[in-house]
Amino acid sequence: MAAQNTNDQPQTPPFDPRIEAKLGVPIKNIIAVASGKGGVGKSTVSVNLAVSLARTGAQVGLLDADIYGPNIPIMMGVDEMPPVEEGKLIPAEAHGVRFMSMGFLLPPEQALIWRGPMLHKAIQQLFSDVRWGELDYLVVDLPPGTGDAQLSLAQIAPLTGGLIVTMPQMVSVADARRGAAAFEQLEVPILGVVENMSGEIFGSGGGETAASELGATLLGTVGLDADVSASGDLGVPIVAARPESDAARTFSVLAHKVVAQLRAVSGGNQPQLRIV
Ligand SMILES: Nc1ncnc2c1ncn2[C@@H]1O[C@H](COP(=O)(O)OP(=O)(O)O)[C@@H](O)[C@H]1O
Ligand SMILES: [Mg+2]
Repeated sequence: MAAQNTNDQPQTPPFDPRIEAKLGVPIKNIIAVASGKGGVGKSTVSVNLAVSLARTGAQVGLLDADIYGPNIPIMMGVDEMPPVEEGKLIPAEAHGVRFMSMGFLLPPEQALIWRGPMLHKAIQQLFSDVRWGELDYLVVDLPPGTGDAQLSLAQIAPLTGGLIVTMPQMVSVADARRGAAAFEQLEVPILGVVENMSGEIFGSGGGETAASELGATLLGTVGLDADVSASGDLGVPIVAARPESDAARTFSVLAHKVVAQLRAVSGGNQPQLRIV
């Protein structure tokens, strides 16, 4: 896949060798995006992070594992997946990102009650039955909360790091803390915190508070911005629709900081040399 943009120099991505060893898939890093509860902008951050990473020239996948509200297809502007090939699910592709969603696999508008084993199996299929191809980064949009999905995901796939999304208010920070505690229990390094919808209406500072409580870094503060939500509704993420906007720049800086954090948590792991 060709690089979409860029002014950014493609860099050698960091590399988490546990993923290929455990799953047998050529994915270099898995980034799990979590929040204590829904509606804080977890999917918005996941989508814009994924597209920003792709705009640096990286190969990027996005996995919508939110079984309760799989809305990545709407945000990416694609509402069905390509036909199955040789028994494998083929990811949809938009804005330079390959993506797969629970929303493609579930009957629309049907409330499903997920029992643990069913959920586990569904998450497993999103890795083993999808032809992801080579990826530098797989961004996973988790369901809100700290329950079974995080556990299943961490059991199935080595997560290179977790990103916590919070709103500015203290109640949201309390939720974020629970999300982070789940990662800590699962021994998933926390890459950092993103404060979303910051500004006059909801205030600001929750991200800083959450980060300092968790001993983590505040990696970005995204303002409450009508263009961010409108572009999500239109299926063209703000980083693609208006790359010069403040919000898009914030997401682009976030993407670079996430890569730096991944490099830090991967320690001295060197990418394998590829002869081309
Ligand atoms: N920075 C922002 N400014 C304005 N609206 C936003 C922002 N971030 C998210 N939204 C909107 O808030 C709603 C919830 O965001 P979403 O990403 O779906 O949250 P979650 O995945 O955590 O449930 C969506 O309508 C989205 O467009
Ligand atoms: Mg969501």
